[in-house]
Amino acid sequence: MEPSKKAVREFTTFASTLAAGAGRILRDGFNRSLTIKYKGRIDPVTQYDMKAEKYITSRIAGRYPRHSILAEEGSDAHQSSPYRWVIDPLDGTVNYAHGFPVYCVSIALEFEGRAIAGAIYDPEREELFSAAVGLGARLNSRKIHVSEEKRLGRSLLATGFSYTVATDRKNNIGLFGRMVKAAQAVRRPGSAAIDLCWLACGRIDGFWELNLRPWDTAAARLIVEEAGGRVTRLSGSAYSISDKDILASNSHIHRQMQAILTGK
Ligand code: IPD
Ligand code: CA
Ligand code: CA
Repeated sequence: MEPSKKAVREFTTFASTLAAGAGRILRDGFNRSLTIKYKGRIDPVTQYDMKAEKYITSRIAGRYPRHSILAEEGSDAHQSSPYRWVIDPLDGTVNYAHGFPVYCVSIALEFEGRAIAGAIYDPEREELFSAAVGLGARLNSRKIHVSEEKRLGRSLLATGFSYTVATDRKNNIGLFGRMVKAAQAVRRPGSAAIDLCWLACGRIDGFWELNLRPWDTAAARLIVEEAGGRVTRLSGSAYSISDKDILASNSHIHRQMQAILTGK
């Protein structure tokens, strides 16, 4: 049965509480001595990724033991439930490991494969972004909306590069060069979830990336759409969090970005 509006609000509040709680764990560990392991050549994981994930998944399992969980660091739970939590306990781990203060916690809840609640907490700015499907997006308690900018040449964009940038032919370097020339400016903050939240509240006008994972975008995609933005694949076709490439914008500059990114 579809969850009621009241239930969706409750899920969003719970996700927000967990994101803020895990964010405090990250903030406490920030600039402390880190134990860093590598999942790939340049893909780090710290003890705080693990601590934050454990904090979140143990609380979900305590409150909703029948729900499934997909979490970046592997604390998954596979259940035959229409509900699935999708978690990035620390988005921006490279930043975190260097003391560069741009990172966050991202938590989404899906019902039958569609995000219905999302919360992203940025501990450095004490900013909690949240969205409940059909009920809008918020920054702390304030409702947020994407920007009104209509000209790509006056737009501030963000993007990122995956850990396979040195080995993958689809590495975003060429697209970055084209977009830098077409937009007002392009930033590379290092946390896809924060980039998308900043799109949702109008600080940037568009975002794209080529090689993201479901936990990077599950909550942020809902926040952007609930803030009036548009999220597709680079080609303009429908986006699912299992797709790697994403194009998100305030909707006004979507076609202009798409034209640059696809060369059409
Ligand atoms: C990374 C960040 C980064 C993006 C990478 C992601 P992680 O996530 O979102 O901005 O460019 O593609 O993998 O590893 O810090 O959770
Ligand atoms: Ca991530
Ligand atoms: Ca992560």
